[in-house]
Amino acid sequence: MSTADDSERLRHLRDLKAQSLLGGGQQRIDDQHKKGKLTARERLDVLLDPDSFEEIDAFVIHRSTDFGLEKQRYLGDGVVTGTGTIDGRTVFVFSQDFTVFGGSLSEAHAEKICKIMDMAMKVGAPVIGLNDSGGARIQEGVVSLGGYADIFLRNTLASGVIPQISAVMGPCAGGAVYSPAITDFTFMVKHTSYMFVTGPNVVKTVTHEDVSFEDLGGAVTHATKSGVAHLACENEVECLNAVRKLFSFLPSNNVDDPPVLAGKDDPNRTEAKLNTIVPENPNKPYDMKDVIHAIVDAGDFFEVHDLYARNIIVGFARLDGKSIGIVANQPAVLAGVLDIDSSVKGARFIRFCDAFNIPLIVLEDVPGFLPGTDQEWRGIIKHGAKLLYAFCEATVPKITLITRKAYGGAYDVMNSKHIRGDFNFAWPTAEIAVMGPKGAVEIIFRKEIEKEADKEKALADKVEDYREKFANPFIAAGRGYIDDVIEPSMTRPKLIRALSLLYNKVDSNPKKKHGNIPL
Ligand code: HXC
Repeated sequence: MSTADDSERLRHLRDLKAQSLLGGGQQRIDDQHKKGKLTARERLDVLLDPDSFEEIDAFVIHRSTDFGLEKQRYLGDGVVTGTGTIDGRTVFVFSQDFTVFGGSLSEAHAEKICKIMDMAMKVGAPVIGLNDSGGARIQEGVVSLGGYADIFLRNTLASGVIPQISAVMGPCAGGAVYSPAITDFTFMVKHTSYMFVTGPNVVKTVTHEDVSFEDLGGAVTHATKSGVAHLACENEVECLNAVRKLFSFLPSNNVDDPPVLAGKDDPNRTEAKLNTIVPENPNKPYDMKDVIHAIVDAGDFFEVHDLYARNIIVGFARLDGKSIGIVANQPAVLAGVLDIDSSVKGARFIRFCDAFNIPLIVLEDVPGFLPGTDQEWRGIIKHGAKLLYAFCEATVPKITLITRKAYGGAYDVMNSKHIRGDFNFAWPTAEIAVMGPKGAVEIIFRKEIEKEADKEKALADKVEDYREKFANPFIAAGRGYIDDVIEPSMTRPKLIRALSLLYNKVDSNPKKKHGNIPL
């Protein structure tokens, strides 16, 4: 073969590659920018380490001939797929290209996504999906629906094996929303990303409601009301950087350990301010995030679901360089009570950490489960049971610190010793009892108090007696339900030592196909 032939072939290859970089063409790229959105490739540049992206399937085109589609073929067919690195660690990525048929999912487009999912499963690396799509490619009909189902199946089989992260960066409608929903984390961008099963027009027809795209399925809606989104980011760059940060806490797969980033903070650091953080008055709130920031490495806490069910806090941090998942009641919101949303939020997070070998640190200040018809009729029993189930089945290292209230069922649920808490600590301010003093006294001394002339004083005296007897950690510590009562200032070194003891912990559950978590 002559040199001239070679250069001709190389020129052809380079032309094709250049063509594939343009997606649906410059005009549509400009339109994308005008909407304040990056293109599929620009997003990958932000997400991945510089020059680390290796593209796969750039030459794939759709096979449709209906509706004149044979005249509209774009290299890559609306999705850019491949591998890259984040902080030097391999990830598999797909990034939907809205400039090609609105990023809609054709048979070929789905095959590309499935291919990288299959490879990711084989090598044990995460899949990060950047979604920006008008949904099923309408011209392809059922073939496109089948493509979605192929993805859903892989999402499900990969669940708990490799981390799966979705960034929704444009429309995501119809059944397409179920792929991000099965993945472990879904991040959205304010004002430019939407998720809904049916859009505003269908809503208007069926329920006669007038609702905007943003209100129905925007980032803030899903981060605050539905809990579908774990994060609502201000813009795409913030969103992609949040994905990078999240991944820094995670292992690449379920038999890997999370990366260790030691040396950022003194493991023996004490915090005097924690000794006075719990107010004298048990009904006064304080911010549990202040406790978290004081104890974790460099105060660095990556909170997820920060705007949803704020009475419980979940997120990732490090203790002496090792990733931990924090589950904490938040006394500053609804007194830290457990309700349906906070139980489900906590349960899903715990199951993620357990699947991916991330130890759990539980900070507990909880007055109990939220009473009332609304909660009972919507099933607080089965939803609260999810949190209980998740803690019970988790076999990663599990450490609980009771800072103040641990009342009733909530004491049991929040990783008590009885459900395999490895280390259970309490501050001296802990109150561990079947219920709060006033409620308890009103039940057990009702008749006695009724007989008294000064009922108010009798009640107050009994409450005081009860508080003195039960509102402390020492009865539980006397039973060994609490391993140690510690000075709050010593919390960080205490947790770090406990964690290092548990580093090689081995525990397991009975062999089974799978459990039946109360859904
Ligand atoms: C084929 C599509 C498409 C689709 C958009 N396009 N959606 N092509 N199939 N699903 C094309 C448009 O024809 C247009 O092509 C280009 O993408 C950009 O679309 P625009 O409408 O101009 O953009 P915009 O105004 O920003 O609106 C975006 C949109 C809208 C909100 C996503 O396009 C839209 O409503 N699309 C349909 C959404 C939908 O109902 N999808 C099916 C959902 S059901 P040109 O050539 O003009 O640039 C579903 C089932 C999945 O997905 C089930 C899985 C189980």
